Amino acid sequence: MEKLIVRGGKPLKGKVTISGSKNASLPILAAALLTDELCVLEGVPPLRDVHTMIRILRNLGVKVVQEGQRITLDPSGYQGTEAPYKLVSTMRASFCVLGPLVAKKSQAKVSLPGGCVIGPRPVDLHLKGLKALGARLKVEGGNVLAQTRELRGTTMYLGGSYGSSVLGTANVMMAACLAKGRTVIESAACEPELVDLAHVLIKMGAKIEGAGTPVLRIEGVRKLNGFTHRVIPDRIEAGTFLLAAAVTGSELTVSGARAEHLGAVLDKLREAGVEVSGREGGMQVRPKRKFRPVDVTTLPYPGFPTDMQAQMMALMTQTPGISVITEKIYPDRFMHVAELGRMGAQIKLEGATAIVQGIPRLSGAPVMASDLRASAALVLAALSARGTSEVSRLYHLDRGYDRVDHKLLELGADVRREKTD
Ligand code: EPU
Repeated sequence: MEKLIVRGGKPLKGKVTISGSKNASLPILAAALLTDELCVLEGVPPLRDVHTMIRILRNLGVKVVQEGQRITLDPSGYQGTEAPYKLVSTMRASFCVLGPLVAKKSQAKVSLPGGCVIGPRPVDLHLKGLKALGARLKVEGGNVLAQTRELRGTTMYLGGSYGSSVLGTANVMMAACLAKGRTVIESAACEPELVDLAHVLIKMGAKIEGAGTPVLRIEGVRKLNGFTHRVIPDRIEAGTFLLAAAVTGSELTVSGARAEHLGAVLDKLREAGVEVSGREGGMQVRPKRKFRPVDVTTLPYPGFPTDMQAQMMALMTQTPGISVITEKIYPDRFMHVAELGRMGAQIKLEGATAIVQGIPRLSGAPVMASDLRASAALVLAALSARGTSEVSRLYHLDRGYDRVDHKLLELGADVRREKTD
């Protein structure tokens, strides 16, 4: 295992280039299962989750060639229909092979992913949608077994207790592209990653209207073609670097950040007093040290993303005054609270709400990463803290941030990756 040793207090400087979106890449790679033709995805970040998806696709018989950030998939003649527990359990996004498999191969056996540190994470909406399309589903031995003679379009409502589901919508949208007739998905997720997937499916010949709105209309087609596509930049990585600049009082250009994907984040940053402006092909943060406390509630897109909640909290811990952060997507996603507390942060949890009493500055400490975004928050806190911090279990960070230590080093941060004993 590895840890990141961070000596805090050094301002960042220069330009960082944002990598392609992990959460857009994963379902788009699964979309290759819908065709027999060659598919090319460009700009894919070389992350562990991407490797896991490639292993799942290879296990199904897809030929995959990865050359740098370009992935070529040849699904012609793949025969597999199973995604086993040992792969699915390491990454929940693997579950979105279910829709494409049942649509293309009329059957699938995909392991249920189970919960993870950010909460229980059910898949009932994925199953509800596929069942509505006519898939016969049963759960046996921890797997979902799906079969169908023919999928048929229908109108369905895919909202759950916490709103829409990103991967649930992706799974059902992909299957509906090959279903007979018209499908309407109400309460569909609107996240930019889902819009990117819809663009790919449209390139493949799918007939989809309403991507990016809560109502998707899909006219099924008999066959889908291959695609060549460049994945969108990672809005969460972009937001994380914007916050890294704010929390360290730095001037930074975040190249590739798309303001139109970051509306709620930019709004809250500006409310907090962060000076951030759009630039040709990116965003710029101007140095400032004094911020105002803000109240943040996470919501499905275009609301404030749950994937930015922990990083925003890192800034608020050092913003004098009281900030209130409410988690409406994953009520248990507060693993970073105790670790930030080890650095001196004053945070009280009341259910799914964190009440943050800002202090002038955190102090460095050994802390442990628990999930991807919590790790990012700890790194931001460490960059701004007085003294040295050690962020252990770095593999969490590596799941979602492409060469983050290299990028930080280039910006002048004092960071070093080391093996733990
Ligand atoms: N939900 C249900 N039933 C379902 C599916 C979801 O009740 O069948 C609930 C969830 O428990 C949660 C809410 O609906 O309360 C939203 O979950 P969603 O299904 O949208 O999450 P996801 O699609 O599994 C993706 C991202 C997550 C991100 C969420 C929310 C990928 C690979 N993952 O997960 O990203 O937090 O959307 O925006 O796209 C991350 O990158 O760190 C990460 C966790």
